[in-house]
Amino acid sequence: MKPFYVTTPIYYINADPHIGNAYTTIAADVLARHHRQRGQETFFLTGTDEHASNVARVAAKQGLEPKVYADRVVERWREVTERVNASNDFFIRTSDQEHKAFVQEFLQRIYDGGDIYEGVYSGLYCVFCEAFYTEAELVDGRCPIHGTVPEQIEEKNYFFRLSAYQDRLLELYDRDPRFVLPGFRYNEARRFIEQGLDDFSVSRAGQPWGVPVPWDTDQVVYVWVDALINYLSALTYARPGDDLREKFWPEVCHVLGKDILRFHCVFWPALLLAAGFDVPKQLFVHGFLLLDEQKISKTIGNVIDPLDLIDVYGVDPVRFYLLRTVTFGQDGNISVEGLHERYERELGNELGNLLSRTTAMIARYREGRIPDRGGSSNVAERIERLGSQVAARLDAFDLTGALEQVWELIRRLNKHVEESKPWELAKDETQRGALDGVLYDLTDGLRAATIALAAYLPDTAPQILAALGQPPDLAWENVQPGRTAAVEGIEPAAPLFPRVDLPAAAA
Ligand code: MSP
Repeated sequence: MKPFYVTTPIYYINADPHIGNAYTTIAADVLARHHRQRGQETFFLTGTDEHASNVARVAAKQGLEPKVYADRVVERWREVTERVNASNDFFIRTSDQEHKAFVQEFLQRIYDGGDIYEGVYSGLYCVFCEAFYTEAELVDGRCPIHGTVPEQIEEKNYFFRLSAYQDRLLELYDRDPRFVLPGFRYNEARRFIEQGLDDFSVSRAGQPWGVPVPWDTDQVVYVWVDALINYLSALTYARPGDDLREKFWPEVCHVLGKDILRFHCVFWPALLLAAGFDVPKQLFVHGFLLLDEQKISKTIGNVIDPLDLIDVYGVDPVRFYLLRTVTFGQDGNISVEGLHERYERELGNELGNLLSRTTAMIARYREGRIPDRGGSSNVAERIERLGSQVAARLDAFDLTGALEQVWELIRRLNKHVEESKPWELAKDETQRGALDGVLYDLTDGLRAATIALAAYLPDTAPQILAALGQPPDLAWENVQPGRTAAVEGIEPAAPLFPRVDLPAAAA
């Protein structure tokens, strides 16, 4: 079985974490957890991008050394990573010594290979993107992403000969139409390459904060180059004494937002080729979370703090809501009202009530004993297909579609309760077998759905299995029907998703 390596972008520490960053981390976490369930050896990497020029500026304003400032603010990012329940295997900081040494080695390899040369850069620079723009790319003279006026910069820089990599990049794209997903992002990246590629600057002059260019320490490595290399450097030191590249490179899937497509889908593979490394296996580019149709971003100022939502609703509902409501890969609106509504309807009434009803009926009609076989309903058939359907969608990064498959089963089970009317069967002793069949099918369906949902709802899944008296084993093969243990002692379960008030700010 192939190992699975998944990454998030590493986040800029000079802004506070917001729901958009949390979204990428949650999505990557669902993939990591799912592949672990399938028995694959998995490595999940996230972390922080610390050498942005803004970090040095803000630190200076506060009279702090950049690293001291970074050590402080990185804690907010670690906290969000933990609070969204990310199961990352490592948290990289680009200020790590080992990372910095690796970046120098990486760049030296390209330099020695002849693809880096000295030149003068003159151009328009957006400090928020940490990227150069041409006049044509600006909208009314402003950065198309941040709406800010870029700075005019002119300085001696080292350039990477990206222009020499056009053919090799196109070959790469031709060889694997799934290199970048979804397909429309593949086309976007490929079109960008076809238009012809300009060399780009891989160093910055006069910046004290960053990784020194090994052959010219007056320059630091351009923050984007420094940042991209994290995906490889982390593997060299995350487990001291063990070079994880042997296992996980290039079996990697980079998950990222559409704002940073070019860096990942064009620059990064070219840099890897130039330095003599394999290119990543796959990149998945997701869309933006929007609030009233606008991108949620620090610069626009419409941020939602994920921790505020988690405080009110709990982490699993927030994870669930974002992936359920915004088709993964597309842009989509989110709102606190939307979260509230799905919390009550889908989590409370559909999933939560199914558990309450099932356990209450087993307690009441069968003295807490789960019957040992299913009924004549077609619930088992539905469960039978669940594992492969969900896995196929997750293999295609359709995190929203996978969730819909599980929800179909949950709705089917609720319908089964309504149609079979266990409360009437319970009144008639001759219907004992029929009642047992219904109770078993409900339990078995809920158990299978729970295993399929565990990557999305990591806190809730073990609670459901415990309430059903089932072992906490999340191995994917247990999504199969008929694996419910006929245990005793089932009691009516407490509500999984108790009522909460809509936060005042949203009401
Ligand atoms: N530091 C760079 C990435 C370097 S990776 C080698 C960076 N950092 S960032 O803090 O700005 O994070 C950008 C990422 O956060 C996006 O690519 C996306 O994954 C996520 N999002 C930020 N805002 C978002 C939304 N409104 N919606 C969805 N995701 C968003 O860029």
